[in-house]
Amino acid sequence: MSALPLVQAFGIVRRDARTATTLLFSTDFALAAGERIAVTGPSGAGKSVLLRALALLDPLDAGRICWHGREVDRRTIPRYRSSIAYVKQRPAIVDGTVEDNLRYPYMLGVYRDRRFDRARAAYLAKRAGRTDGFLDKRASELSGGEAQLTALIRVLQLDPEVLLLDEPTASLDPQTTQAVEALVDDWFSSGEHARASMWVSHDPAQAGRVGTRRLTMQAGRVNACEEIHR
Ligand SMILES: Nc1ncnc2c1ncn2[C@@H]1O[C@H](COP(=O)(O)OP(=O)(O)OP(=O)(O)O)[C@@H](O)[C@H]1O
Ligand SMILES: [Mg+2]
Repeated sequence: MSALPLVQAFGIVRRDARTATTLLFSTDFALAAGERIAVTGPSGAGKSVLLRALALLDPLDAGRICWHGREVDRRTIPRYRSSIAYVKQRPAIVDGTVEDNLRYPYMLGVYRDRRFDRARAAYLAKRAGRTDGFLDKRASELSGGEAQLTALIRVLQLDPEVLLLDEPTASLDPQTTQAVEALVDDWFSSGEHARASMWVSHDPAQAGRVGTRRLTMQAGRVNACEEIHR
């Protein structure tokens, strides 16, 4: 396995295009294979801005991102975005059923070689504590927590290399939260390729469970990124 970080950011900056306010000050950051980073900090500190910038979902105002040591460019960005998966704080759910939502990514060009696997989706839903009919549920009838679970399963079934999880259990009860942590553990320890994750949480106990390092943000800056001692 390569010793290069999976993802490395050099001086990345994000600004609000309308007001020119800096949302993320120049940040250097490396995410190595096997690392699990808990991201903490007050509301508005820039945690979501950082994760979205790392996922290259919003255009950077400065800096660059390397993936396995190579700068991500226009040609590699679709593959990068499908490998470095950002799970939104407020999930985007399309009309139809839960299954329609899970099938949705397979319509995208980057997954044209992949096929939706209903049995696997049903297994993941069951692991997340859902009952059998979950895949047939209407998306418009999902609770906030069920919508979050659907968005997480939609990403997990694609087996990404890096998961950037933005408060994925914020709307979930303790039991389902535990199930989601187990699902992510499963993803982490399965598959052939190296993995890494970042998990934004406001719960210090959860940060201790899901992280090996804790990255703390404050007012658009990374304050510290320290090992979590158990
Ligand atoms: N696209 C955007 N355009 C302008 N301002 C933005 C944009 N995205 C985020 N912001 C601002 O950047 C700041 C940081 O937002 P961010 O969503 O990253 O906070 P956060 O740390 O994730 O907070 P929370 O814990 O509440 O989710 C906020 O003041 C927010 O209003
Ligand atoms: Mg946020």
